[in-house]
Amino acid sequence: MSDSNTIPVIAIDGPGGVGKGTISALLAEKLNWHYLDSGALYRLTGLACIQKGISFDSINDVTLLAENLKVIFLPSGGILLDKVDVEALIRTEIAGNNASIVAAIPQVRDALFKRQKAFLKLPGLVADGRDMGTTLFPDASLKVFLTASAEERAKRRYKQLIEKGNNVKLADLIGEIKERDERDMNRSASPLKAAQDAHIIDTSELTINEVFDEVMRLYKK
Ligand code: C5P
Repeated sequence: MSDSNTIPVIAIDGPGGVGKGTISALLAEKLNWHYLDSGALYRLTGLACIQKGISFDSINDVTLLAENLKVIFLPSGGILLDKVDVEALIRTEIAGNNASIVAAIPQVRDALFKRQKAFLKLPGLVADGRDMGTTLFPDASLKVFLTASAEERAKRRYKQLIEKGNNVKLADLIGEIKERDERDMNRSASPLKAAQDAHIIDTSELTINEVFDEVMRLYKK
C-alpha cells in the first residue's frame, strides 16, 4: 500500500495565515495520523539559502540545497536543520516571504516532491500546504480549501505578534500577505488554487474549533 488510493489523506490547502497549520495539527492529533507541514520545507530551503549565502536567482544551487536538506521533524514539534533547532527562525514573516520566492522555482518543487510523498504512511496523513489536493495527493479522501480575506488573516497575525511583544504595523502585514498571495497564485508551477473537488470553507467568521468540527464532519461523511 503506497498511494493515497489506499492510505487515507486529508489535504488542507489555502493561503498563508488562514489557520491551516493549527487545523491540520489538531486533525492529525485527533485521528492519530501523520502530519505533513509542506510549507516548512519551503521555509527551510529559503533559510538554508540565506545561511549558505546562496542567491535565490541561482536556480541550480537552490535546487541542490532543496534536494539535500538535512531535516528532522521532531515529534515534539521542533524542526532540526543540520541538527540545529530552527523552528523559530523559519516562522518569521521574512522566512515566509523567502519560502514563497524559492517555491516559485519549478525545479525546487520537483526536488521536494518525493520528500513530501514519503510522509504518506498508514494509518493516514493530514497534509497542509498550497498544492496538496491539486498536485501531491490528487486522490486524497478529503480536500479542504480554507479561505479568509487578506485583511482578516493579517489581523489574526497582528494579534499573535503583538501578544508576543513584537512591534508591527497592521498595514505592513496586509501588504506582505497580499504580496505573498500574488506570488503563490500567479506562479506557473502548482499555483495556489482550490482543487475542483475541494470543499471551500471561508474561515473569516469561524473559530478554530468551528473549522475543525466542519472538517471532521466532512471527513466522517
Ligand atoms: O504554509 P506556509 O506559510 O508555511 O508556506 C510558506 C510558503 O511556502 C508559501 O507562501 C508558499 O509560497 C510555499 N508553499 C508552497 N507549496 C506548499 C506549501 C508552501 O508553495 N505546498
